[in-house]
Amino acid sequence: MHHALNRALLAGALALIAGSAAAADKIKVGFMLPYSGTYAALGNAIENGFKLYVAEQGGKLGGRELEYFKVDDESNPAKASENANRLIKRDEVDVLVGTVHSGVAMALAKAAKGSDTTLIVTNAGADAITGPMCGPGIFRTSFSNWQPGYAMGPVAAAKGHKTAVTITWKYAAGDEQMKGFREGFEKAGGKIVKDLTLPFPNVEFQPLLTEIASIKPDMVFAFFAGGGAVKFVQDYHASGLGKSIPLYGTGFLTDGTLKAQGEAAQGLLTTLHYADGLNTPRDQAFRAAYAKAYDNLQPDVYAVQGYDAAQLMQVGLQAVQGNIEDKAKFRDAMRGATIDSPRGKFTLSAAGNPVQDIYLRQVAGMENKMVEVAVQALADPARGCKL
Ligand code: PHB
Repeated sequence: MHHALNRALLAGALALIAGSAAAADKIKVGFMLPYSGTYAALGNAIENGFKLYVAEQGGKLGGRELEYFKVDDESNPAKASENANRLIKRDEVDVLVGTVHSGVAMALAKAAKGSDTTLIVTNAGADAITGPMCGPGIFRTSFSNWQPGYAMGPVAAAKGHKTAVTITWKYAAGDEQMKGFREGFEKAGGKIVKDLTLPFPNVEFQPLLTEIASIKPDMVFAFFAGGGAVKFVQDYHASGLGKSIPLYGTGFLTDGTLKAQGEAAQGLLTTLHYADGLNTPRDQAFRAAYAKAYDNLQPDVYAVQGYDAAQLMQVGLQAVQGNIEDKAKFRDAMRGATIDSPRGKFTLSAAGNPVQDIYLRQVAGMENKMVEVAVQALADPARGCKL
């Protein structure tokens, strides 16, 4: 009798220890981001933003500490599957966080789906990720390429522009942002007269600028980002084209780049889901905390997207009391989340993409100043997503 009781107590105690050990295990987060190349600053900002939110929660999400694994994906699609599998198979991460480049993100999403690993996309806008490739474990805290491109269409038309030339890198992000702009611009009565491209991440813009000068459209619409955006804005300014043919773009053209672009960027109008001068308590608190944590560095859209990825994870983990192993419940809670983002509150569409306001911003000094909301609560059409 006594022995049996002792055995039962011992078994119970062991079960408790095992249970609490599991709860005390760190959650493994895999950062797949560019830490080198033209998008290096973007990858770093995403990681900074993510870690800032975690630090604000006392270093834990859902009551559990995090353990980070990192891969520099170099924005290289050719190495993307292998890099994703390092995190999935070797490190056995619970959640993948990344990446910046749409081509790399496509391979990442494929690997995540194949292994049923939860993925939070922190920048890459590839429409397919929350389109044909959507799934219960696929989330995005950034945007679809279609969103900021589309939003500029009606704005440009309202300024009286009838013809536009587009210019971008030839890959999914460029193609899809230009396509979004075309849809919005044509719907509002505009016409795209030429699509100009060069391979990613090339910066030999001169021949294309010469072509723009000879076409003489009413305006130019561009997507470049990171180091390439710095060079493009400088070259466009130096060409003098801007005096007769105004340059517009998705906000990546001038986000996180103004220090380097300086005079060349002044006055540029862009559309994006974040802006300077939002003047909300939420954004002000975020910006102050970011500057304090990172040596006076000013946050940009990439930092916000990383911050919100951690916020999204927190919503999921709180719903399962840290038990991330309860995948279905963890994911359902994330899908239903309302994120109190520095950009403004947003929800996720059924496909897992933010439904969010897109701002028109204008460069003034070192800021992308909010001008107005270009399109309110814009949802990506999620073409091809079947859940
Ligand atoms: C993308 O490849 O989807 C991409 C990269 C950089 C940006 C925006 C989109 O700033």
